[in-house]
Amino acid sequence: MNASLPHATPPAEAVMEAIDLAQSYEVSRGVFATSATVKAVAGISFRLAPRSTLAVVGESGSGKSTLARMLTLIERPGAGSLRLDDVDVAEADARTLRRYRGEVQMVFQNPFGSLNPRQTIGKAIEEPLLVNTSLSAAERRARALDMMSRVGLRPEHHGRYPHMFSGGQRQRIAIARALVLRPKILVLDEPVSALDVSVRAQVLNLLVELQEQLGVAYVFVSHDLGVVRHMADEVLVMYLGRAVEHGPRDAIFDAPLHPYTRALLSATPVADPEAKKERIVLEGELPSPFNPPRGCPFNPRCPLVVERCRVEMPPLAARGAQRVACWVTGADAPAAGPALT
Ligand SMILES: Nc1ncnc2c1ncn2[C@@H]1O[C@H](COP(=O)(O)OP(=O)(O)O)[C@@H](O)[C@H]1O
Ligand SMILES: [Mg+2]
Repeated sequence: MNASLPHATPPAEAVMEAIDLAQSYEVSRGVFATSATVKAVAGISFRLAPRSTLAVVGESGSGKSTLARMLTLIERPGAGSLRLDDVDVAEADARTLRRYRGEVQMVFQNPFGSLNPRQTIGKAIEEPLLVNTSLSAAERRARALDMMSRVGLRPEHHGRYPHMFSGGQRQRIAIARALVLRPKILVLDEPVSALDVSVRAQVLNLLVELQEQLGVAYVFVSHDLGVVRHMADEVLVMYLGRAVEHGPRDAIFDAPLHPYTRALLSATPVADPEAKKERIVLEGELPSPFNPPRGCPFNPRCPLVVERCRVEMPPLAARGAQRVACWVTGADAPAAGPALT
């Protein structure tokens, strides 16, 4: 256990541990302007238990995809550490990185972008085995067919091309390709956001089944809290590159503390039409990441804002089962904060 990492309910074992991961980009703004720095991710920490699902939720622009690229080693973290099997891969040499690349795989929102239109899907699913293992052609084919059947594709699909499949089937192909090396961790970046609502539930159910069968852990990125309601074990809510709330799924959905989490939750449909629901409309846009507000980054849009929020950044601190960064509802607040009605 890392004592320096505050965590309300630390899982005993972790397949992945992120400590203060951060990433900034230099972006030039116009021809004559000097470059500016965007803090896309500004210090994210979590422990991912084996066979569990961490959902990372926040509006577009909150830094979710940047975090996902660091977790999958597509991008080296700008700062912080990323531990897999107690090895810090953030600083690792090329050889160590190669070893760990197979253990963390990624599924993107748009699977068409990652599938070669001239390659059969059988070959696409076998490709990671060709690159990373010394299996024979027959063994690779057998593994691909096994993974295809697990994701609900038929053997005759092996010789077909990506354009012959629907969006939902293509996402199944991308999942099979990501799982064929049997990674410990799958990072899914908005995996169902491009799919029709009817197909969405099927893919989510498939992911739950695959987790049970294969024991893989998920980091599931979504802009929509509703999507992760049934599959998440823990939820981490991001705002402008920071974690504003993090905790067990039930705590986040039943008793959200941060006003931003409450607003996101109020925007998701409820299954029970009788359930009374407060609806909070977030005013204003996500502020520019070039010029984040002073104090709490959420303060210009926050219905609970007090003077302190405009000058001082609240730390992420434990309150009950959650960790929350808020002066009004967080660790030092007298009560859970006023209701947002
Ligand atoms: N490669 C990059 N270069 C410059 N800015 C980037 C880059 N990637 C992301 N950003 C910026 O970082 C912020 C977070 O982006 P992103 O991680 O894509 O968020 P999300 O996935 O939550 O929408 C945004 O302001 C985005 O413009
Ligand atoms: Mg994104």
